[in-house]
Amino acid sequence: MTALTPLRDLPEANIFRKGDVFVLFGELFGRGYVNGLLDEARKAGMRIIGITVGRRNEDHSLRALSAEELTEAEANLGGRIINLPLMAGFDLDAPVGTPTPTDLLADLKIANWQEAKLDWAHVQACRELGVKRFRDTLAEVMGQIDSMVPDGANVFFAHTMAGGILKTKVFLAIANRIYKGRGDRFLSSQSLVDSDLGKLMLMNFDEVTANSFAYLLEASAALRQRIEASGGQTRYTAYGYHGTEILINGSYQWQTYTNYTQGHAKMRLEQHAEAAWQQGVKATVFNCPEIRTNSSDIFVGVELSLFPLLEALKLEAVAPGPNSSGSIASRCWKRAPAWNPCSKPSPITTTIQPSPSSVTMRPGRWTTPPSWPR
Ligand SMILES: NC(=O)c1ccc[n+]([C@@H]2O[C@H](COP(=O)([O-])OP(=O)(O)OC[C@H]3O[C@@H](n4cnc5c(N)ncnc54)[C@H](O)[C@@H]3O)[C@@H](O)[C@H]2O)c1
Repeated sequence: MTALTPLRDLPEANIFRKGDVFVLFGELFGRGYVNGLLDEARKAGMRIIGITVGRRNEDHSLRALSAEELTEAEANLGGRIINLPLMAGFDLDAPVGTPTPTDLLADLKIANWQEAKLDWAHVQACRELGVKRFRDTLAEVMGQIDSMVPDGANVFFAHTMAGGILKTKVFLAIANRIYKGRGDRFLSSQSLVDSDLGKLMLMNFDEVTANSFAYLLEASAALRQRIEASGGQTRYTAYGYHGTEILINGSYQWQTYTNYTQGHAKMRLEQHAEAAWQQGVKATVFNCPEIRTNSSDIFVGVELSLFPLLEALKLEAVAPGPNSSGSIASRCWKRAPAWNPCSKPSPITTTIQPSPSSVTMRPGRWTTPPSWPR
């Protein structure tokens, strides 16, 4: 996607009703974006089904949830979970007796990671194994979901999977320099993308964040055909990220994190949805504005978009009342009284106004979707 197509109004039409099925394709830990969709699904009387990524044993092998973990996960979801481990990616997969991609990185140090070379034939073998494991388990999961969806029901698949960072010590130090570093500690994201480590990381992001959606579309084809033949409909959504418009000096302007390595995988996710539409499958990637969740907390700078978002909620408030967007925004501001712009100009809102001295928010720098990701 290179054209910006902001969704200005929330769609009112809704085909979903009691007896329809909502499938959450991603495990919910605490709260995330998908809680909004889950609330709507519950309101519509839909049956909720979820999956799990599983858990790792000490030897890194994958297992299903224990009875206790399953009870807890189902209570958090408010629905039934198919208890087969659907962990995407291949960072801990390898042919028996050979090192996993994560093992290959064990000797990397801050002094040598940029020159380090990987055995790509071996990486490819690990990737094929990881993909096969995921698709084989998914086929079983889909068999169970199929048996829970009656003819004629509508089905909504919500994909939330995103991740794939390789768990290696050196990456913590690299990430600190790339995502947070200033001055002497700054390291360009290009140096990561150009290294073998970076290339491996992008491949794993692709598997977790993007290709898992393609595998879902593929694995649910038979279910989709049965449902559509019996008068029901299927819809697929995924959460993308492709920058967002925020309120700067009273008008909306597209902006993004100055660097978002996962952006390449998020674009591949969009491509999978585009390819599905061309086949007549209703798969949509919604590119969301930033919010603070488990997955976004690692990014320094998420707050740069959150404060203008609160301003935007106030600006867009049409109806007064305790649940209007304006009231919600005011309540959020009150939780951060030191920054309340009603009482005094905040250091944060000053930073986020575009100015030639603000490197992060300098207008015209990365301000068009085609310049993304960096
Ligand atoms: N938080 C933000 O600011 C933000 C902004 C734009 C888009 N998003 C997207 O919204 C979606 C939901 O994210 P969220 O912020 O609610 O957080 P979240 O942490 O709840 O979602 C991440 C999901 O990815 C799954 N996951 C992680 N690694 C996985 C793996 N190896 N295999 C399978 N699943 C794996 C987790 O189980 C979880 O369901 C994600 O696609 C995220 O990229 C988030």
